[in-house]
Amino acid sequence: MSELGDTLRFYRDLGFEEIYTRSAKGPETAAARAPAPKPAERPVVIAPPVANLFVPSSETLEEIRVDLGECTRCKLHSTRHSIVFGSGNPKAEVVFVGEGPGADEDAQGLPFVGRAGQLLTQMIDNSAQRMGVPLRRADCYICNVVKCRPPANRTPEKDEMETCSPFLMRQLQTIRPRAIVVLGATAARALLGTTEPMHRLRGNWFDFQGAKLLVTFHPAYLLRDPHKKKEAWEDMQQLFRFLYNL
Ligand code: URA
Repeated sequence: MSELGDTLRFYRDLGFEEIYTRSAKGPETAAARAPAPKPAERPVVIAPPVANLFVPSSETLEEIRVDLGECTRCKLHSTRHSIVFGSGNPKAEVVFVGEGPGADEDAQGLPFVGRAGQLLTQMIDNSAQRMGVPLRRADCYICNVVKCRPPANRTPEKDEMETCSPFLMRQLQTIRPRAIVVLGATAARALLGTTEPMHRLRGNWFDFQGAKLLVTFHPAYLLRDPHKKKEAWEDMQQLFRFLYNL
């Protein structure tokens, strides 16, 4: 495919359905001359403090996985096939946190390997490439709030998240990333302890015990509503600007 074709496909994948070029001949309409509408003002949402997440940890990820064992701590164990602990670079500068494994992840024992996972890979790799930064999915660490698939992909329940999230906290404490990207409202609520709706959370940075935490859309949501990809792309730009001081 030509470079132009690649570029058009890239923007289409981000949710831009139509791309306009300035025409020398075409009449300029009043709408085209009107100033672009200002983006809505963002509310400031303050994250509640979380106790001691980044006290130095001497645990390794392998030790945390061993401690998790063949977990039966919550009811999700009875329907899962695999525990999906997490994967990626144990020294990652950025950790992506999803909600819980789906069918593909449950089958393979790895996070974000299904359709949503493929989109997550594109979100990271394509956005980084476009911004000229060397980060790729393999450089990140990827995990979920709950490590076992909720039946029929339902939202994990409060008790399930409360039982499992200490393992997530230990993973974060071991990796000690500079940035945590939270994918979707459920994971945001689990980590931030807030019930704020997604439109108030996304695109905002939170201080999370020495790390920066950014909330963005879950890729499964972006598959259902591709128009939101533009905002997800803006969030990825924010991430890379922070990580690379751009
Ligand atoms: N959705 C998630 O939240 N996590 C996965 O690992 C896959 C899909």
